[in-house]
Amino acid sequence: MLTTTDLTVGYGDTPILRDVSLTVDDGEIVGIVGKNGAGKTTLMKALIGLLDPIDGSVTYDGTEITDWAADERARAGVGYIPQSRDVFPDLTVEQNLLVAEGVNADAEDLLYGTVYDYFPILEERASQKAGTMSGGQQQMLAIARALVGNPDLLLLDEPSEGIQPSIVQQITEDIPSINEELGTTILFVEQNLGVIQGMAERCYAIERGTIVDELGADRLADDGALAEFIAV
Ligand SMILES: Nc1ncnc2c1ncn2[C@@H]1O[C@H](COP(=O)(O)OP(=O)(O)OP(=O)(O)O)[C@@H](O)[C@H]1O
Ligand SMILES: [Mg+2]
Repeated sequence: MLTTTDLTVGYGDTPILRDVSLTVDDGEIVGIVGKNGAGKTTLMKALIGLLDPIDGSVTYDGTEITDWAADERARAGVGYIPQSRDVFPDLTVEQNLLVAEGVNADAEDLLYGTVYDYFPILEERASQKAGTMSGGQQQMLAIARALVGNPDLLLLDEPSEGIQPSIVQQITEDIPSINEELGTTILFVEQNLGVIQGMAERCYAIERGTIVDELGADRLADDGALAEFIAV
């Protein structure tokens, strides 16, 4: 469903990611692990089209999308939850979800009911301003907002960062359910061992902008193998 070939990306002329080649198959949940500054967010930004590659290509659903803008990728079914979450703090929860309506214009069915099923707290807080909610609730809102447009591929950048353990646990259970029930392919960035082990079928490890390893189920289950690639 998603392939990058020798992707080199940076800010200005300075490459940060070098020769990144990865694949995500339809229906998979794939993780990206790597320490702070490794280039994980840079990769996600290149995948959603917020950074133009210096070299290499991105293919989505059999079509080369290397030159597509972020909004075109969103309309083609790629959902993105940035590390900064970026909910609109002065809008209510419901208004934040309504904003998503325009994003994936090609989605036939908007999943308001479904996102409230996954995250009942959002329905309870529908008229509350998003900025007054906890970090974990804002993360659920960010996920819900991306999900409303029924994306085929969801890109999630460190969903557990800075949020309380109970919501980390909930998200770790919800994302695989969403994958299974809605068929959403997931590519996520994480440094939390429990989240990686709870969600990923396999992982790519990034160090200094390069993919240095790929971990399948066996090595993912091994805390020591995984700890080498995350901040502990
Ligand atoms: N806007 C920018 N301009 C220039 N350099 C940047 C910019 N954003 C990030 N970088 C640099 O690119 C490198 C990779 O950053 P990136 O944010 O992709 O790392 P990361 O793996 O997501 O880290 P973290 O786990 O802390 O989120 C870092 O050296 C960072 O300083
Ligand atoms: Mg990051």
